Amino acid sequence: MTTHFAQSQLWASVNVYLQGLQESGLDGLPVETVSIKTPPAQGAVTRATGHTMNQPHQAAVESNETLEQIRKSLGDCQRCKLSSSRKQIVFGVGNPQARLVFVGEGPGADEDAKGEPFVGDAGRMLNRIITAMGLRREEVYICNVVKCRPPQNRNPESDEISACSPFLMRQLLSVKPEVIVALGTFASQTVLQTKEPISKLRGKFRDFHGIPLMPTYHPSYLLRTGGNSASFWDVWSDMTQVLQLLGLPVPDKSRKS
Ligand code: URA
Repeated sequence: MTTHFAQSQLWASVNVYLQGLQESGLDGLPVETVSIKTPPAQGAVTRATGHTMNQPHQAAVESNETLEQIRKSLGDCQRCKLSSSRKQIVFGVGNPQARLVFVGEGPGADEDAKGEPFVGDAGRMLNRIITAMGLRREEVYICNVVKCRPPQNRNPESDEISACSPFLMRQLLSVKPEVIVALGTFASQTVLQTKEPISKLRGKFRDFHGIPLMPTYHPSYLLRTGGNSASFWDVWSDMTQVLQLLGLPVPDKSRKS
């Protein structure tokens, strides 16, 4: 039986999807593009740790939108004040059919200049994590909660997150990865719609509309704590769970003390 929690998640998904259609300029609902799957019961994320390649997961709401369509509907976005100071929109990069998606907070100066997420120092740390997982950056998809650089690299504000996050939701539903990794507080709290701190959220799979989501520390935080810190090994432990869920080998890494 569908729980109240699952129902409210389903309606949240439908709302995101409808908002996307409206943003795209549609004033009616093209029924054939919306396919609602039975949402997983609460606790399904825990069960999903037994997920194998033979049991493809099904997102609670499926979207037939491509990333190009979503980028097009974003247009020369002026939906929030970040548009006035950005150099360019940083939409996302990587494989549109990725099994794994990383979600960060928002572009910094390097990303704003290049138009690609995670290309500065935090990006080098993220690349290090991806490589340590035995993956290549081109295999995964990488995007952010906000698509324009907050001035002086300040945190994104709630009106900016509200304006931009529907596009993130649409990107996630378009890629339909098998696992999402939310990097840091803003990505985790926005995608999961919670105020729980990242220290409490990390390390356990959560559910994003039927897709297992692992919150973990942001690469910038690891840059501050050091590449062999306790938090670095916490992230590695989180990524180990992600690899196991994807049915991929876990490279042997041992902590250098
Ligand atoms: N930090 C983020 O959260 N995203 C980027 O793209 C770069 C740094």
